[in-house]
Amino acid sequence: MPRPSPSELRILRRHKAIGAEVRGIDLGRPLSAADRAAIAQAWCEHLLLIFPDQPISDAQQVAFARQFGQLEIHPSKAHRSSRHPEIYRVANVDEAGSILPPSGEAWRYLNITWLWHSDSSFRDVPSNGSILHGIEITDEGGETLFCNLQAAYDALPEATKRRIAGARARHSHDTVLSRGQALEHSGKYDELKPVWHPLVRRHPVTGRASLFLSPHSTDLVEGLSAEASRVLLDELNAFAAQDRFVYPHKWTKDDVIMWDNRATMHMVTPYDNARLRRIMHRTTLRGDGPVLAA
Ligand code: SIN
Repeated sequence: MPRPSPSELRILRRHKAIGAEVRGIDLGRPLSAADRAAIAQAWCEHLLLIFPDQPISDAQQVAFARQFGQLEIHPSKAHRSSRHPEIYRVANVDEAGSILPPSGEAWRYLNITWLWHSDSSFRDVPSNGSILHGIEITDEGGETLFCNLQAAYDALPEATKRRIAGARARHSHDTVLSRGQALEHSGKYDELKPVWHPLVRRHPVTGRASLFLSPHSTDLVEGLSAEASRVLLDELNAFAAQDRFVYPHKWTKDDVIMWDNRATMHMVTPYDNARLRRIMHRTTLRGDGPVLAA
């Protein structure tokens, strides 16, 4: 089947909370300057772009992602693709095709993606965005929920906005590990020190304010006790996770999704990981600099 020419690019709003669908483009080919610019603009505006029907290889995914910046290598060594280390395998199936043992460490680490998070928030320079290719999908759970943290911030009561103005929260990969069932560091993950980021951030391109929440890696708010931090973070997380700010993506094979980690968080809905197969390959765009306070 002939693939579309660049002039056919169309961007269609997909959901009232967040996201747009992009049609008329082949991600397996280098982008024209005009298409690249249109995608970059739509990404910052809609925060989430869905490219249906993109049967790309890992090499093509890496090449597509590189057109939007440098790529991270994921801190979990066991989840990097052996052929393309820039690919993080979010899969309950190993590279030989076998379902991961549900009690094994590789699965227990991935299980943490069932919690809300913003990719790489535990880095001193967190990721700009992520690109995920649905290779094997399931329609019994395994949806990805995307939350618009700009809309959530806008809707906060003014008193809450005043309470969190200027506040910083601690993010740490060790906190991610602590959320897993008895995950130990033991050299299987890159060493990353805890970092402090603003709780309210400004998008470097659009200037819009948003909450910066990543519940799987955040445990402390500066100046508050552990318990008071938990109460505040739980309150903000619950507020942001309301249906009105969330788009649930039901996957179709070869969907490619590109989201903006500077203004969103996401999580996977549970599925029967001992029986069903789910293989997603992620490339993660490095951030350009420290998180900007709003
Ligand atoms: C991720 O958390 O980055 C992956 C989300 C998914 O597997 O749908």
